[in-house]
Amino acid sequence: MLELPHSSGDQEQASGLFYQSGVTLPTVARGEGIYIWDTSGKRYLDACSGSFAANIGHGNRRVQKAAIEQMQKISFAYRTQFENEPANALAQLLTELSPPHLRRVFLVNSGSEAVESCMKLARQYWWARGLTQKAKIISRRPAYHGATLGALSLTSYHDLNAPFEPLTVQSPKISAPFCYRCPLSKTYPSCKMACAHELKQVIREVGAENIAAFVTEPIGGASTGGAVAPDEWFPIVEDICRRHNILLIVDEVLTGCGRTGAFYGFEHWGVKPDLIAVAKGLSAGYAPIGACLARNDIVDVVVKSGGFMHGHTLAGNPLSSATALAVLKVIVEDKLVENARKMGPYLQECLRALQVKYSFIGDVRGRGLLAGIEFVSNQKTKEPFPKEWNVGGKATALARGHGLLIYPRRSIMGVSGDHVSLSPPLIIDKIGIDEIITLLDKTLSDTAAWLQQQHAKNAA
Ligand SMILES: Cc1ncc(COP(=O)(O)O)c(C=O)c1O
Repeated sequence: MLELPHSSGDQEQASGLFYQSGVTLPTVARGEGIYIWDTSGKRYLDACSGSFAANIGHGNRRVQKAAIEQMQKISFAYRTQFENEPANALAQLLTELSPPHLRRVFLVNSGSEAVESCMKLARQYWWARGLTQKAKIISRRPAYHGATLGALSLTSYHDLNAPFEPLTVQSPKISAPFCYRCPLSKTYPSCKMACAHELKQVIREVGAENIAAFVTEPIGGASTGGAVAPDEWFPIVEDICRRHNILLIVDEVLTGCGRTGAFYGFEHWGVKPDLIAVAKGLSAGYAPIGACLARNDIVDVVVKSGGFMHGHTLAGNPLSSATALAVLKVIVEDKLVENARKMGPYLQECLRALQVKYSFIGDVRGRGLLAGIEFVSNQKTKEPFPKEWNVGGKATALARGHGLLIYPRRSIMGVSGDHVSLSPPLIIDKIGIDEIITLLDKTLSDTAAWLQQQHAKNAA
């Protein structure tokens, strides 16, 4: 996940690292289950799994054992020189957990790389079939698909895109199905799913002969904080893709491996993507890894044409593969997808109770253990707070003070609007959720007091 700079905290520089500008963060010491401790001994409840990654929680002994055992054998062997057992076993288990038409796996090191692999595989497929014009990839607005230049071309989140616009490929966009803040200013169901039908309009404008694929998150992640489309949305866009000979790519980087209460987010709607990207939950943060899964015939065409013209040096290395394999086994053996499905409604119910208590919570949304709450200055009009107040960032800082980790983002095209995501490890139980809610309640109470001060300052 690409981070926007937060400017608060002390300016002292601990090292040359500059992930965040001007912020000194606590130094992490260790993790166990849903908790992380810093070097001062302070404990944090990880209610956002880092950034939606630590799905099996921290410090899992089975994963540690698998990684150590693999490291004692070999950590790296180059994929064009050797097959390696963990990578093959990982691909085997991943395909067993995926729909039967997605049987081919290409391993990479991150979510952005997984998305770019899908983009390039889709493009090379049409190229190999002689349809050399089919190159453009349509995506949604707002959306987050990664930070590298290809994935950034599909991302629509103003502050992340703006500096790099001259370097990215201009890709067509359609409005995301974000009903709380409809980009088309319509209301469901009288909108008649205009956002989904916009895909037809854009295809007409660009020409199906020029389009390789349409890419979508199944449920809005960082850009909308868990916005779930109405049930009609996915079948409509799938049908439009089929009719126009356009591949459907689903970006499961954030949602995949159980986060939403199904192994993949798209399974809630029974659609059949042609390619998918996974990462984050695939290794639950224990190693950098991602994957692109594709239809057999797509890969066959590309392989016959001379092979996929793409790859990364460290991809599919034995250590990351053995680690991810152990993570997937934990997800299966501990029934974590089922747990996300069971715990999700309880989390939503608790968050809705907080919405009743705090008038600045405009919306509670999400599915499974992917939840978002949106802060507004007026529940009825949905008026956002002034951008410069950075209410999501402030609430996140206050939560940290209470030992709670949550994740802030902007909801209105990455420019303004504040939401925070709650996406705890999938191992969480009701007691853990109750603890999140207690800490969040304290956080929101502090946020309410801070908002009052801001209003008073503004009025003065
Ligand atoms: C839906 C989605 N796709 C792609 C990415 C990029 O993944 P990474 O940060 O691992 O490159 C992210 C990261 O948050 C994401 O949420």
